[in-house]
Amino acid sequence: VNKGNGTKGLSETGIKTIPKQYIQPLEERTMNNVMVGESIPIIDVSNWDDPKVASSIWDAAEKWGFFQIINHGVPIEVLDNVKEATCRFFDLPAEEKNKYSKENTVSNNVRYSTSFVPHVEKALEWKDYLSLFYVNEEETSRLWPSVCKDQVLEYMNQSQKVISQLLRVLMKGLNVTEIDSEKEKLLSGSRRFNLNYYPICPNPELTVGVGRHSDVSTFTVLLQDDIGGLYVRVEAKDSWVHVTPVKGSLVINIGDALQIFSNGRYRSIEHRVAANGASNRISVPIFVNPRPTDIISPLPEVLATTGEKPIYKPVLTSSATPRSLMSGAKDTTLASHR
Ligand code: SIN
Ligand code: FE2
Repeated sequence: VNKGNGTKGLSETGIKTIPKQYIQPLEERTMNNVMVGESIPIIDVSNWDDPKVASSIWDAAEKWGFFQIINHGVPIEVLDNVKEATCRFFDLPAEEKNKYSKENTVSNNVRYSTSFVPHVEKALEWKDYLSLFYVNEEETSRLWPSVCKDQVLEYMNQSQKVISQLLRVLMKGLNVTEIDSEKEKLLSGSRRFNLNYYPICPNPELTVGVGRHSDVSTFTVLLQDDIGGLYVRVEAKDSWVHVTPVKGSLVINIGDALQIFSNGRYRSIEHRVAANGASNRISVPIFVNPRPTDIISPLPEVLATTGEKPIYKPVLTSSATPRSLMSGAKDTTLASHR
């Protein structure tokens, strides 16, 4: 299934029934209790220095682990260009895309694949993706596909200010007011970009776009198109809430690393993407990650301010499985996350 033209190619053959590898267990594909009329907070960040902006972000990070930001200053053309570039990549002939497959790619930092982590998954997900880990401009210009590299790089540069402001505000809420360059690297020293393509699915009720998971990042900045399908877990109500696309917005979610840094105050919440029977969908998450070689643990400032004991053990980020950081760091007294 991982050969040929990916899930997109499979979708485009016009098959009426998905191959059995894509059929997900019942508990993965059924989504009970979708809350209607609820939504994650939408926060206008035109003035980052407004105390109300900060407190809305802190509340959202504690309560939902997710929020959308509007008036963030990344030009709409830059966002549109990344979405177009994503379509261009997935529209390439199979042999072009397969130059970046696990078997063929010259670097693990550039990888085209179908589904999430095929070898560890019980069942496949109805998606293809290109994953780009940023090292430096030289490697980018040498290795990233030419149909998308300039647009992703421009997006990286244009989103840097938003990422710095988010980090500053989130840290301020934890009483971390000094972010020197070492701390900045520890918290946010690496970037991964995923270009996700979710093709039309003939049996959306049998599979998923992405199964439930939390991100391992410090936080994630997600650009989505206007199709929808991302759902966020609301644990207290045993339900899910849809992240309604808002034109020009960016969806922000707290990842496992920041849940650990904040000693559990900010929450890395499970989310999933439903398969869609009518439309193709694309999304582009930027994973703002700790520096790969760093050991992460609850920040000393957080423990000093609250007087709390650390509820997570130190964990090496690069030793984490792609799907869970907290399972390694979790203290045995905590409930299982995934
Ligand atoms: C993900 O969380 O892995 C993808 C989110 C999305 O496509 O909306
Ligand atoms: Fe995710």
